[in-house]
Amino acid sequence: MTLQYLSHSGFLVTTSKGIKVLIDPFLEGNPSAPVKSEDLSADFIILTHAHGDHIGDSFKIADKDKTTFICVNELAIYCQTKGYKAHNMHIGGSHDFEFGKVKFTIAHHGSMTPDNTYGGEAAGVLLFIEDKIIYHTGDTGLFYDMKLIGELHNIDYMMLPIGDNFTMGIDDASYAVELTNPKIAIPMHYNTFPVIAADPKDFARKIEKNGKKCRIMEFGETMEL
Ligand code: NI
Ligand code: MN
Repeated sequence: MTLQYLSHSGFLVTTSKGIKVLIDPFLEGNPSAPVKSEDLSADFIILTHAHGDHIGDSFKIADKDKTTFICVNELAIYCQTKGYKAHNMHIGGSHDFEFGKVKFTIAHHGSMTPDNTYGGEAAGVLLFIEDKIIYHTGDTGLFYDMKLIGELHNIDYMMLPIGDNFTMGIDDASYAVELTNPKIAIPMHYNTFPVIAADPKDFARKIEKNGKKCRIMEFGETMEL
């Protein structure tokens, strides 16, 4: 299984059987994006929420026959009204897909589509794929229930925002790692635009001081999980 970081909050998980699970692909209009939408395909697209920097290029990448969106109910309905297949879920619920299990968590954030349709609650997502547990927090402020999420799930990789302004900044993200206690923290949602400029090395130093591990992924980098 591999994990590719597409910059911002975008990740591509490719299972050992070759199933492609894309999360929040934002490429066009993203000056940091290392790849273009035409170079990507997906069997599943998971959206944490409806903001333009998360829906991003989803509808360009998705194949109406082949790709299934996975999101909270309101956003799933929005995808369905656009003619795409979607699996409707909601916060707290989990479901088994052919690649593994998906569970939605809370996130403190908004959710409106680029054409001003309400997208339901913003969410985070837990992925149970092969023998790994991946927690992509989505866009969120710090919340204490991250402790509960970490108690219930022995998280291997936690992707969390550090860019501040719209989400947690480095200080709160460092505390989020304390609460959740993942094996490895991967910073995201930074350096896409000047307003979310942040140095991931500052984040790494901060959590490493507390004995936690950080993996800074380059934009476009792929690693083996
Ligand atoms: Ni957002
Ligand atoms: Mn965002």
